Amino acid sequence: MSGKAHWEKVYREKSPFDVSWYQKASSISFEMMEKSGLEGQPAIIDVGGGASVLVDRLLQEGLNNLTVLDISSTGMEYAKVRLGDRATLVNWIESDITEFESPKQYDIWHDRAVFHFLTDAEMREKYLGVMRRSLKVDGTVIIAAFAIGGPTKCSGLDIVQYDAEKLKKVMGSEFVLTEQRNERHITPAEKLQDFGYYRFCRQV
Ligand SMILES: C[S@@+](CC[C@H](N)C(=O)[O-])C[C@H]1O[C@@H](n2cnc3c(N)ncnc32)[C@H](O)[C@@H]1O
Repeated sequence: MSGKAHWEKVYREKSPFDVSWYQKASSISFEMMEKSGLEGQPAIIDVGGGASVLVDRLLQEGLNNLTVLDISSTGMEYAKVRLGDRATLVNWIESDITEFESPKQYDIWHDRAVFHFLTDAEMREKYLGVMRRSLKVDGTVIIAAFAIGGPTKCSGLDIVQYDAEKLKKVMGSEFVLTEQRNERHITPAEKLQDFGYYRFCRQV
C-alpha cells in the first residue's frame, strides 16, 4: 500500500481521537515555537499536521501565517471541520512532503511524528532537501520523533528512533540544536510512547 493509501485508510477507519498519536494539546510543540519567537507573524508550516490541534493553538494566539501540509486530505478535513470558519485562515496543502515544492519560505518548520517514518536514506535526503529549500536562512526546525528505546512502529509502520546525537548527524552542521525536550506520551489506548522533541536553528 502506498504512503497516501495507508494514511487515507487510517483516517477513514479511525476517529482522530483514537489514533495513537492523538494529543489533547500540542503543548511542547507550542512552547518550543514560543522560544524560537512568535512576534511579527512568522510563516509556520506543520508538516504532516493531519488532524493535530497545534493549528488551533496557533490561531488562538493570533497567528495568521499558517500552513498545514499532509499527505492525507481526510486527516486535514477533521481539523478543518473542527475549526469551522477559522479554517479559512490557514493554508492547507495536500502533498507528500518528499515531493513538495514550496511556493514560499518558512520561519518555522514543525514535524511531529513524520520524519521518523523515513526509514530509507534516500527518502530522508529528499525530505531534508525540501526542508532546506523551504526554510528561511535563519529559520527554526522542530522535529519530534520516537526516542531510542521507545516504540519501533507507529501506525503499523516501521520507524527510525532518534536521540539528539543521531538527529544532529542527519540534519548536518548547518542546523544547531538549541533545545531538546522529552515527552512520555500516553496513547488513547493507554500505552506509553517516549518521544524526543528537538529544536534546531539554521546558522546564518
Ligand atoms: C503519526 S501522524 C502525526 C500527526 C500529527 N503531526 C500529530 O502529531 O498529531 C503522521 C502524519 O503524517 C502524515 N504523513 C505521513 N507521511 C507523510 C508524507 N510523506 N508527507 C506528508 N504527510 C505525511 C500522515 O497522514 C499523518 O497525518
